[in-house]
Amino acid sequence: GKGNHRHFMLKEIHEQPAVIGDTLHSYVDPATRTVALPALPFDWNKVSRITMTGCGGAYYVCMVAKYWFEQIARLPVEVELGSEFRYRAPPLPEGGVCIAVSQSGETADTLAAVRYAKAQMQHILAVVNVPESAIAREANVVLHTLAGPEISVCSTKATTTQQTVLLATAIAAGRARGTISAAEEARLVAALIELPALINEAMNMEAQYRGIADGVLAEARDVLYLGRGTSYPVALEGALKLKEISYIHAEGYAAGEMKHGPIALIDELVPVVVVAPNDSLFDKTASNFEQVKARGGKLVLLSDSDGVKRLGPQSVATLTMPAIDPVVAPILYTIPVQLLAYYTAIAKGTDVDQPRNLAKSVTVE
Ligand code: F6R
Repeated sequence: GKGNHRHFMLKEIHEQPAVIGDTLHSYVDPATRTVALPALPFDWNKVSRITMTGCGGAYYVCMVAKYWFEQIARLPVEVELGSEFRYRAPPLPEGGVCIAVSQSGETADTLAAVRYAKAQMQHILAVVNVPESAIAREANVVLHTLAGPEISVCSTKATTTQQTVLLATAIAAGRARGTISAAEEARLVAALIELPALINEAMNMEAQYRGIADGVLAEARDVLYLGRGTSYPVALEGALKLKEISYIHAEGYAAGEMKHGPIALIDELVPVVVVAPNDSLFDKTASNFEQVKARGGKLVLLSDSDGVKRLGPQSVATLTMPAIDPVVAPILYTIPVQLLAYYTAIAKGTDVDQPRNLAKSVTVE
């Protein structure tokens, strides 16, 4: 049941510290601060390329993981929508690994993408929440997200546990390839272990999420989400969540793309949610923020206390996240975009758990 929560979506958002903890329990060793993945049937040193595939929110998780595999393990990564990849049928290199990401493990396009990659002799890793699913059965190795059953159509805890598993996998690949030191591995594992507590902090601001939803987002016809680096897919995820359950038109953009077109949309009526953790790209995002501000945009800032100190005075609203290691930040910053969408849907009175036209598992193409 929903326990004392009004919707499954809210219940599942609140389960995230616990299920990320459960997932970490399977993939990291807190005593040695190392990652511990199941045995893989290939050597990371012989991997020529990773192809990641998924649909919807799972595709955005792949986009975040691309940065991790590139930066931590120095591996080339392509990210593919299942529905495009399967028909484009691109050549795949010898020694390639395909990582499929799916909560249900039954998504038709992701399954077809996996079958194609398998026929192309790729090693298949499946990051799924349902271990006895069709995608899991096709895989050489299943990396199980321990999110537990997800009832809400809108995916929340599956998303953040997928991110958690993929960051652990990227660390394992980096260690095997010698692209990160033992000290760096220990630092990243420590940051992962700290994550459930930080997510708890990020959730304990209900009044603020509600205030922004009621006062800024629910009135809007269009909302933009901006981010750079790993915050770019978080922006895409935020826009998808808002569309899905509040039916407000929303777009996620790479912050640097604003001046190439979308800035024409900005006026006093368009809220712009800026996902700006305190990372090496903060200054770049800050200048995009100021460009939007100069056109009268209504800015909602997601950052930590340093970022809020800098850009808060120019924002109509801010959400102060706990300070966090930038590598892990996309997992933490997924929480506020979930809660903003949730409370906006509440303000609009939509059916949060059963949004119109959507099904939990998309087994037809
Ligand atoms: C987003 C959402 C969908 C799913 C997509 C993939 O909230 O729920 O976009 O992420 O349909 O589903 P799975 O992960 O089951 O393959």
